[in-house]
Amino acid sequence: MDFQNTINLRHSVRSFEPKKVPKTILKSLIKNATKAPSSGNDQNWKFYVVSETNTRNKLAKLLSKSLNKFKGEFDKLSPKLQKITNEFYSDLGGCQNIIFAYIPKRLNFRDSAIASISCACQNLMLSATNKELGTCWVGTFKGFEKEINKLLEIPKNEELVASILIGYPSKDFKPLKRMKKKISDVLTFI
Ligand SMILES: Cc1cc2nc3c(=O)[nH]c(=O)nc-3n(C[C@H](O)[C@H](O)[C@H](O)COP(=O)(O)O)c2cc1C
Repeated sequence: MDFQNTINLRHSVRSFEPKKVPKTILKSLIKNATKAPSSGNDQNWKFYVVSETNTRNKLAKLLSKSLNKFKGEFDKLSPKLQKITNEFYSDLGGCQNIIFAYIPKRLNFRDSAIASISCACQNLMLSATNKELGTCWVGTFKGFEKEINKLLEIPKNEELVASILIGYPSKDFKPLKRMKKKISDVLTFI
């Protein structure tokens, strides 16, 4: 896929085919993630890729708790967005694979590590788009970090930064219209 096309076609996907992504593809995406720049070339990142159904289901159940936890916020959404949110949070929108990205805890340059791993995650998401896969970074998972760490047996010295769903977009998936800021609102030439 042409690079500009990949950039244009990346959207957060919240509705997936109930089909697992093969491990070879997941591995190639993580390889691309690790080609990202990192502060001091520290490569302070770890990726845990969940494919196993039982664990995936437990994680889906955890995330579905956010429908209650953030009910106040969700209630403010339009009826259309409420429906999408409900379907998405009740069962990960059908997604079968989740990638969790961690940095070491108690780093001197924590901000830099978060920036670096975010670069890696963007590499991953664009690489996925390039393979016609869909992704959605789900920050809401961070609120369940303790439970996730226990379930996945994450070492105590690691901190969760990114949780990314990855899978085959459902046939009827349409990206949400995104309110775009104008270039003139965000760009200053000096
Ligand atoms: C750090 C981060 C956290 C996010 N957390 C969530 C989330 O919890 N739930 C969700 O549905 N989307 C989440 N998103 C996706 C954004 O809502 C999405 O990127 C934004 O609306 C722009 O849409 P697009 O990705 O389709 O261009 C997150 C994105 C980022 C970068």
